[in-house]
Amino acid sequence: MLHHLKDTLKIRYRQWRIAASLQRNDALGALHRAWGYVHATQLSGDYYEFGVYQGASLFNSWLSWRFFRNRLERSDSLPFERTGTVAEFLRHRPVFYAFDTYCGMPDNAEGEDTLATGSFQTSLELVRRRCAIAGLTEPTARFIPGLFAETADQIGAAPAAVVHIDCDLYASAVDALRVIRPRLVQGTVLLMDDYNLFRASNAHGERRALREFTESTGITVEPWFAYGPASQAFFCHL
Ligand SMILES: C[S@@+](CC[C@H](N)C(=O)[O-])C[C@H]1O[C@@H](n2cnc3c(N)ncnc32)[C@H](O)[C@@H]1O
Repeated sequence: MLHHLKDTLKIRYRQWRIAASLQRNDALGALHRAWGYVHATQLSGDYYEFGVYQGASLFNSWLSWRFFRNRLERSDSLPFERTGTVAEFLRHRPVFYAFDTYCGMPDNAEGEDTLATGSFQTSLELVRRRCAIAGLTEPTARFIPGLFAETADQIGAAPAAVVHIDCDLYASAVDALRVIRPRLVQGTVLLMDDYNLFRASNAHGERRALREFTESTGITVEPWFAYGPASQAFFCHL
């Protein structure tokens, strides 16, 4: 009970402080910057998160989207009309796709204690509840429980504005990139949360998965900014 109350207060505090996220050099700051860019450039598309755990980055991403959306919809001081390109952009309300097993890390051979099978225990019920406190509910949120490789056919092919890959494991990053490939467009933001894990080795983890992905697809990625202890943001070029 006390735990739920503390959690609710923390989420409410985040709602209140969302505008200050741009000053942060962590995942929440990166998500905020990504949505700021999406609104500045009117890149229509959805949000895809691979690795949700207890939902923190998911609902914070939505809070950041809402912040920039409200600003574009409501501000009287913006120096342009909301008719042509802006009106068209505003017509699209992104879906927030949330992929996870919702029962912990899958079997893996990484050999890392912190990534052991079954770690990151959570439940879909808990994530739904936390997102709802922030204001993110279905159908804006689409929870996709199961392994990335086995659930991809549950969603359509809507373009991606922001992709957040936060699944630590090489094999999972390969699967996430395979799922997202047909949804990438020019300028899609790709956030790789664990890019520099495994001592920044190009032969491991998300680094290896992204390197192989770009080599095999011809899609290029341009480093945008580094954030947090081991994360990297990219722009996709098609
Ligand atoms: C580091 S946590 C995600 C943290 C989350 N983004 C946050 O803000 O707290 C990694 C998550 O990736 C999920 N995951 C890893 N590989 C997966 C796979 N192949 N399919 C589904 N979920 C996977 C795990 O279940 C775990 O919840």
